Amino acid sequence: MLGITFISLCVTLALGRRVVDLTHTFDQNAPKYPLEQWVDKGLDWNMFRMTTLMAKLTLKVTEYYEHQGTHMDAPMHSARGGEDMASISPERLVGPGIVIDVTDKAESDVNYAVTVEDLKKYEADHGRIPPGAIIMMNSGWARKYPDSNKVFGSQNLSDPLSFRFPGFSLEACNVVGVDTPSVDPGIAPEYYCHNHLQPSGVPLLEYVANLDAIPVRGSTIVLGAIKMREGTGGPTRIFALLDDENDGFINGANSVSSRGAIGLLSLSTLWISNVTTLEIK
Ligand SMILES: *[C@@H]1O[C@H](CO)[C@@H](O)[C@H](O)[C@H]1NC(C)=O
Ligand SMILES: *[C@@H]1O[C@H](CO)[C@@H](O)[C@H](O)[C@H]1NC(C)=O
Repeated sequence: MLGITFISLCVTLALGRRVVDLTHTFDQNAPKYPLEQWVDKGLDWNMFRMTTLMAKLTLKVTEYYEHQGTHMDAPMHSARGGEDMASISPERLVGPGIVIDVTDKAESDVNYAVTVEDLKKYEADHGRIPPGAIIMMNSGWARKYPDSNKVFGSQNLSDPLSFRFPGFSLEACNVVGVDTPSVDPGIAPEYYCHNHLQPSGVPLLEYVANLDAIPVRGSTIVLGAIKMREGTGGPTRIFALLDDENDGFINGANSVSSRGAIGLLSLSTLWISNVTTLEIK
């Protein structure tokens, strides 16, 4: 075991590849979508725990929501007949990482919605968004995690009309996806982007961490999504793979050193889109 670890470490070093974890640690404080709190049955984090005498193994059974913490929304979450977690093709789970940084804008406007202009500016500054890209909005929100009142921008989590957090504009989801993708800002309780995106089979990711620690382009994202039959969503371990040469893409607002914090979490929304139809010039 140690030998294998050592060998894989050597391979990693030889390839000059760094791995950045874009996942919040999953624990009982992981925010749930407040809609689900309406039916909160009081989840049992340590429902059952045992250590077998024979083998000295520790096991437990834990209850949690599929849409808690860093997680993926399967298409069936908002599209009737959409794919479940087990049916999402592996090709969807690996792709070039693109970070749309709107931290400054979100700081002055909690309702900020990524615009087509933001995407055009990204392409002007950093080049075309490639097909199959995994596009992540960095709103700086991960710093608020896991405080649900801060994350949802509301003092009354029972009232979805009070939610205030950034997302994508309808215009931007229309432009970027197959036939209209995105993740909705809090002020839009009709979930217009979910409803446009998921019928095209696009999975979404929410509560992505650590986006300040990766470059705005040049990473490869790997999504370790639970392969759960009938899963409408599920906890997802998100890795960003960086080659040494990619580090040159880290700049300005996305620089690890300028923020001084690899561990500085940014709760943000991430979504995957089929950008082959991107038509912004
Ligand atoms: C919170 O919102 C719910 C739903 O709108 C409402 O019934 C309740 O009175 C509100 N609570 C407070 C403290 O305002
Ligand atoms: C992406 O969109 C193109 C054009 O609409 C479509 O032909 C293709 O099948 C889509 N790919 C995926 C993986 O959905």
